[in-house]
Amino acid sequence: MTNLLDWPLDLPCGATLSNCVAKAAMSEGLADSGNHSTPRLETLYQRWAGSGASLLLSGKSGELHAAALNASDFQKGGFTNAECVELVRLLNGVGLDLLEFSGGSLEQPEVVGVTLKDEGEDGPRASAMRREAYFVAFAGAVREVAAMPVMVTGGFGSIAGMVEAHEGGDLDVVGLARPLIAEPEAPRRLLAGEIDKLLSPEASLSVFHILPWNYMRSNGSPTALTPIFR
Ligand SMILES: Cc1cc2nc3c(=O)[nH]c(=O)nc-3n(C[C@H](O)[C@H](O)[C@H](O)COP(=O)(O)O)c2cc1C
Repeated sequence: MTNLLDWPLDLPCGATLSNCVAKAAMSEGLADSGNHSTPRLETLYQRWAGSGASLLLSGKSGELHAAALNASDFQKGGFTNAECVELVRLLNGVGLDLLEFSGGSLEQPEVVGVTLKDEGEDGPRASAMRREAYFVAFAGAVREVAAMPVMVTGGFGSIAGMVEAHEGGDLDVVGLARPLIAEPEAPRRLLAGEIDKLLSPEASLSVFHILPWNYMRSNGSPTALTPIFR
């Protein structure tokens, strides 16, 4: 299938992404005790270098000139959509190359404690909630005011869902995380039309592998990761 996701995208810094599919950040847990790179980490990234994704974000990155907003920022008592739009207007002035919205099925409402009722009138459209990538609903609104490309990560399960979000103007870049664990060449194979659905490693990835990462985000303590990812 040929689609606009397979077209180059120019970033504000002058670099060009060869397509609009990126590998999202995933804590690898493969550094040594001195926090140095290891052969296993190099092997992993060699593999992902051939994934077909135009951009590889390493664990806990976001950090070349990019910023990330997470679904949990929108929990009850957190951001409203209007506040998020305001934040994006402020970020427009600081020279970011990419703004990532991440969340989706890893942090579906029941996981982060968000419900449609919690989000009130400012919440996502019901139609958007039916989409495979729940967080697209938030990203579309801010993309209208964002000066930088917008990447959305979380919950994508098919090329059809990715194309729908792209053609609907909700994002510039699709971010994939767990599907690249299950199928390291998923972006290339999707864009080439070899597959149309993404595999998820959820069946073999216990929720207890994921919760500590969320715990770390809220508490800022990297030690919470230690026993899990070794
Ligand atoms: C094992 C694992 C580790 C993750 N580590 C990070 C991280 O270090 N930084 C980050 O911003 N997001 C991290 N995430 C979140 C992913 O980038 C992504 O937002 C989330 O998995 C939803 O995307 P998906 O449905 O394509 O998996 C991690 C996700 C998983 C499953």
